[in-house]
Amino acid sequence: MTRVLFVCLGNICRSPAAEGILRARGLPDLVIDSAGTGDWHVGKAPDRRMQAACLSRNIDISDLRARQFSVTDFDRFDLIVAMDRSNYRDILALAQGTDKVALLSEFAHKQGAQVPEDVPDPYYGGDEGFETCLDIITVGIDGLVSDLQARI
Ligand code: 4NP
Repeated sequence: MTRVLFVCLGNICRSPAAEGILRARGLPDLVIDSAGTGDWHVGKAPDRRMQAACLSRNIDISDLRARQFSVTDFDRFDLIVAMDRSNYRDILALAQGTDKVALLSEFAHKQGAQVPEDVPDPYYGGDEGFETCLDIITVGIDGLVSDLQARI
């Protein structure tokens, strides 16, 4: 089993989308979850706009519920994947030395794909921001899947 946790700020847009996209790949022996560094949306379903953008790509994330990242996640997961550099720094600030934290774009870059380092936060923008976000996350997940397949 490889346990993967995606982390963004609110856990209602980017990280649940990453969770849903990876889940849809149907890889064996994988536990997948997501969390937010912030606690504003704990218990809520993903943002309606992200649910709709995902559904238009045949990815249903309506069952997911937001939770806050916790230091216990360092033990519960093998790989903690941050959506942007700010999330990455916030997670590392809670760690007492760990090599489990990565940035999603690292996996795309390892495969030679061109994506921005940060998955942009779509929360305060328009609908097109959600599409851009999903395009970038999808390339990151492609890279992550290659990485996971090499581990399993
Ligand atoms: P996420 O997007 O980090 O991709 O889930 C956000 C959702 C909510 C907020 C910020 C970002 N917020 O400030 O409430």
